[in-house]
Order: sequence, then structure tokens, then C-alpha cells
Amino acid sequence: MLGVKVLCCLLVVYQLNEAKKIKGSRAEPNGALKEPHASLTSFRLFPEDEDECTVDPLQLHTLTSCGFNSSNPLIIITHGWSVDGMLESWILKLATALKSNLIHVNVVITDWLSLAQTHYPTAVKSTRSVGKDIAHLLQALRVHYRYPLKKVHLIGYSLGAHISGFAGSYLEGPEKIGRITGLDPAGPLFEGVSPSDRLSPDDADFVDAIHTFTRESMGFSVGINQAVAHYDFYPNGGDFQPGCDLRNIYEHISQHGLLGFEQTVKCAHERSVHLFIDSLINKDKQSTAYRCGNKGSFDRGVCLDCRRHRCNTLGYHINKAHTGASKRLYLKTRSQMPYKLYHYQFRVQFVNQMERIQPSLTISLTGTKEESGDIPITITEPISGKASLTFLITLDRDLGDLMLLKLRWEGTDVWKSVWNRVKTMIPWGGAEKQPLLTVGKISIKAGETQERTTFCAMTHEEQEVQISQDKVFVRCKADSAKQRRRKRSGSVRDL
Ligand SMILES: *[C@@H]1O[C@H](CO)[C@@H](O)[C@H](O)[C@H]1NC(C)=O
Repeated sequence: MLGVKVLCCLLVVYQLNEAKKIKGSRAEPNGALKEPHASLTSFRLFPEDEDECTVDPLQLHTLTSCGFNSSNPLIIITHGWSVDGMLESWILKLATALKSNLIHVNVVITDWLSLAQTHYPTAVKSTRSVGKDIAHLLQALRVHYRYPLKKVHLIGYSLGAHISGFAGSYLEGPEKIGRITGLDPAGPLFEGVSPSDRLSPDDADFVDAIHTFTRESMGFSVGINQAVAHYDFYPNGGDFQPGCDLRNIYEHISQHGLLGFEQTVKCAHERSVHLFIDSLINKDKQSTAYRCGNKGSFDRGVCLDCRRHRCNTLGYHINKAHTGASKRLYLKTRSQMPYKLYHYQFRVQFVNQMERIQPSLTISLTGTKEESGDIPITITEPISGKASLTFLITLDRDLGDLMLLKLRWEGTDVWKSVWNRVKTMIPWGGAEKQPLLTVGKISIKAGETQERTTFCAMTHEEQEVQISQDKVFVRCKADSAKQRRRKRSGSVRDL
């Protein structure tokens, strides 16, 4: 099994080296759209009935009989590199999800399989010409139907993302394509190249990208790591996805046979597609992502801010308002559909900590809708003196307004046995020597509602937590009063 993987990697590395030799055959400048054009790309209107409805830019009269409705938006799905020359199953899933949820929309599938099923670098070299084929089609629609480009949405997966970008850059005039969505745009031979040689924000009025497999191995990553859009989403940090680890490989193989191996390798890459499908299917479970400098800061929970376009909705229903520069947005997801998770930032104050300790805590929350159950908190460095720690907690349910918080210090067995020994040795002074954790306020901000709730101990003594003890924290008095005022004045947002 490992052998196959190594072989795959070697093959790709070999191909990439080959590619360096071919590179440099740069694109012709824009404006080459006019001359008649023979292409190996075909376009199919979805859903297909018995008569195959291939869309030919030179014979557009066939379009209406195939069900193309020029008053509706047009979505073109473009696939990526192909190993076996077959359309992958996600394409029909995505097309079906678009058609059945948006209804008044034309869905077209780009088929460039004959060019895609080659060595990776050769397929890369074809991306410009496939992009130009799409541009030709859109140009023909513009001329014959006065079909506006801003009603066009290109969705491209892997190499298809860059193809969509090239399509945008081949179109002339001030009018641009409405939207391009890059689903884990391909990394090898595109990472670090100039914006005109890959998908970039200039290619359409609005460009969004979902990065799901940027984990580097052997010097390259399958998905591109750099930002290429107006909004670049990095679910779970973007490098790898939950449910895709090698641990699951045996499950996949038992389900799909040897195909399972390929499924596992593709898992994180293709997750970008399924996140997008999820946004169409589960309308009441839209995932929010938050602008953040890097994965580490996001994991500390310091980025759950929605002011000034800092957060946005992942997938089809994204908010298209944007300000020039690329934004990197982060979020956590579940390992399967629906992928949505609710994000909470916790800030815990520790007061007068005498000994340095690194406690492991469990928190549970009660909200007006649900209870959270036990949430283990891992504190990565010892606490001493006065300290305030922040971390990110994710839950798969909406708890409603938070009412009550329970905190427990999970003593390790080691701690307990040490403590018991100390007690036996010095039976008189024991009670004061027992390790104590003094917890001040606990403040929780919910990313999805932007509400902040602060919890306090009910009495002064209740602040002092001992090993294996449960302590209940309630909303601080000031906080409840503020909450009531806010409710009354009708503004729920905590800005
Ligand atoms: C085209 O779509 C519109 C809705 O956007 C609909 O009202 C109209 O009837 C459709 N035309 C045809 C020929 O189906």
C-alpha cells in the first residue's frame, strides 16, 4: 500500500521535473478570440435528456431546443486532471445540487477529458486553451443572445479553477464574468507564479476559493496554498480535512475495494466540492468563516470578528461585497455533511495562581436550546500569577443563549496520589496545601451570533476550584443587566 503511494509521488515528481523543461511557453496575449477555432473541449447542458445536448459555440440555435433559458443565470462546472478519463461522480452531484436548489439556472458541464487524461504537466499546458474555449462560448452567447457576462458563474475544481480564471482573462472589454469559484485550485506548477498565469481576483467581478488540501509533501501540495481570490477559505486550516486520514483508509477499502485507496487520496482535495454542495443542500446550516492571520491564531479563538467584512459565508451563498485585497478566512468543520460547526471563543481569567500548574479542565454549557455536554480543554502551558487564556471551542449544535457554565478540574491520577501521600505525611496542614485554581471571569463569544456572555462564580469562595470538583458559574450581574438592556433596545449585536 505504501509502495503504491510512494510510486504515485515519484511519478508526480518526475512529471514536475519534466514540466520545468516545457515551461516558458507562455500564453499568447488576450484578443485571440476572433479567429475560427477547433477545440477538443465539449460543453453539455445539464440535465441531459435522450438527445445529447452538446453546446456548440458555432451552432447556438441548438441551445434553446436543449432547454437553455437566456433569462436565467449560467453556471459552468469544469473538472480537473483525470487519471482514468472518466467524469468523476462529484460533477453530477454538484450539477444536481445546483439545478434542484436554484431551479431557474442553466448548468453546463465542461468536458476536456481527452486533454485532462495525460501527464500532469501536459494537462497543465492545456488549461489555457480550455479556458479560451469557455471564453469563446461566452463570447458567442454575448453576441447572439446579448447574454451578459455578469450572469455567468464559473465553478472549477483543481486545474478547472485555473481554466476558469483563464476563461475570464481572455474576455475583452470592461465587462467581466460575474463570479468564479475555485474549488481547491491546483497547486503544482501554479503556486507562486504571476497572477496572469493562474486564477486571480482580476478574472471576474467576484472570485472565491476553498482550499482543502495544501499539506505539503515532497516539496509540493496538491491544492494551492496562496490566496488567489477576493475571499480564500481555509477550512480546518486548509492543509488537511477531518475524516480523511489514513486511519480511514481501511474503511474506504472495505467499502470500495481498491478504489478506496484513490478515494482516500482524493478525500481532502475533493472536500472543497462537497463543502460547496453542502452550502446548496443544507440552507439552514450555512458555515461562517472568519478572517485571520494564520491557523495558529484562529485555533486560539482570537479571530471570531465579523466587523467590516471580516467574516463571510462559505459556499454558494457567500456575501459578494468586498474590498480590494485578498482575505484569508478560517473555519472548523465536521468530518461529514452537514459540515457546519458553531465557533466559540473562551477567555478564562486565572487569579493569583501561586504554584505553576497546567490543569486539564472540562467545561459544560447550558443554553436556552441545548446543553453542550462535557468539553475537554487542553491548556498547553503552565499558569502562574494572573493569567488570561483564550481558546477556540467548536460545537455541532446551536445552544441558544448561554445561561450556565460548569467547570471541572480533571485531576490526573498522579496528582491525586501525590495529594493523598502529602495528606498522610502532614495530616495537620493538609487543607491549605491542596492545589487550588482561582478562576475569575469566563467570557464566551459566539462567532455565529457575535454575542458575548460573561460568567462569574456565584460567591467569592466558589471561585476556588479544587481537583475533581464541579463549580457552577452563572451570568455575571452586570452582564445580565446589559443583556436585558440590549434586548430592550432591540440591538442584539455585541460590537
Ligand atoms: C425562462 O425562465 C423564466 C424564469 O426565470 C421563466 O419565467 C420562463 O418561462 C422561462 N422560459 C422558458 C422558455 O422556459
